[in-house]
Amino acid sequence: MTAVDEADTAPLLKASGVVVDFATRGGEVARALDGVNVSVAAGEILALVGESGSGKTTLARTLMGLERPAAGEVQVRGEPLDRTPRGLRSFRRTVQMVLQDASGSLSPRQTVYESVAEGIRLHGLAEEQGRSETELVAAAMADAGLRPPERLFLRYPHELSGGQRQRVLIAGALALQPELLIADEPVSSLDASIRGEILALLLRLRDTRGLAVLVVTHDLGLAWNIADRTAVMYLGRVVEIGPTEQVLEVPRHPYTQALLSVVPEVERLEPVVLRGEVPDPTRIPAGCRFHPRCPAYADGSAERAGVSEACHGTPLALLPASPGHHVACHLDAARHGDAARHGNAVASSTTGEPGGSMRVITDS
Ligand SMILES: Nc1ncnc2c1ncn2[C@@H]1O[C@H](COP(=O)(O)OP(=O)(O)OP(=O)(O)O)[C@@H](O)[C@H]1O
Ligand code: SF4
Ligand SMILES: [Mg+2]
Repeated sequence: MTAVDEADTAPLLKASGVVVDFATRGGEVARALDGVNVSVAAGEILALVGESGSGKTTLARTLMGLERPAAGEVQVRGEPLDRTPRGLRSFRRTVQMVLQDASGSLSPRQTVYESVAEGIRLHGLAEEQGRSETELVAAAMADAGLRPPERLFLRYPHELSGGQRQRVLIAGALALQPELLIADEPVSSLDASIRGEILALLLRLRDTRGLAVLVVTHDLGLAWNIADRTAVMYLGRVVEIGPTEQVLEVPRHPYTQALLSVVPEVERLEPVVLRGEVPDPTRIPAGCRFHPRCPAYADGSAERAGVSEACHGTPLALLPASPGHHVACHLDAARHGDAARHGNAVASSTTGEPGGSMRVITDS
């Protein structure tokens, strides 16, 4: 175990040194996750951000028990995830996942009622709780903001709006009364106004039910709007993690700084357009895996600080930057060095404050 993660309470769910490999068609090994430590505490909202191909979905699926790590482990309240059918069945009561594509995830031949009732039947919840199935379905739909539920019971997915379909998926997950919802790009296919409503719903569920949420997104504005903490992923690693107001207001990693600089609401940062895309995980660059695209490496900042050899030769772990905030960057370590490691956070001079205008959510 490392000291990467400093959630106050014992984490509900944790990835500890998780490595996930995929075999490619050409017989190579793609290392989609390469030693990831991350945890979600009860009642917290954690955002997982990063470009396409950075490993966000793989980490979410691994935390859900859908991918088996080649090394490291997933822990539920400090215990290794029980991967027996019985263990996974009980785990599904604690952790539920909602996918991006509500149309693809709902069966076109199932009514809303049937979709939401599925998990309730599978887990025998009506008998267990001495309540009728209809009552449980209606309660889950109401919690997901589908009111009055009865009016929608017999509708089919094609008769619903995109926002309603996403709420039906959320209702199906809430029906099991989970403690954690993993939402992979939950609003990326929705209109802006509906996006705000769904995000407000997630916030309300956290506030009223203490539901923890792991939200996967490439949208830093979304993370800013709802997350308590944000983890930034690059090529299978977490490169920066901490309280959202620190990671997104005073980002310390050049990758986070570059991602943030192109968010439209962040006007005080000079836009940095990253060259190319996240590399293929069968060919992970040596040293800091971000170095071939790093603006600070390219513009000589790393060289002037005497770390450029380390940048392309020495891999590095996440280091404490300030309380609860960790960064994997040789330049950051050189700049902030000992002061930061002793907990005296030093704000980066290269970053600015994005402004409160990004917090735009109103509850529906
Ligand atoms: N089943 C698989 N087989 C082979 N490679 C995979 C598989 N799943 C993911 N990968 C590879 O692992 C890397 C991480 O993929 P992942 O889907 O986790 O990224 P992501 O951050 O979720 O991207 P996006 O934002 O596009 O959803 C990518 O290079 C991807 O091609
Ligand atoms: S370690 Fe070097 S290459 Fe990597 S992000 Fe920091 S400055 Fe850039
Ligand atoms: Mg993904």
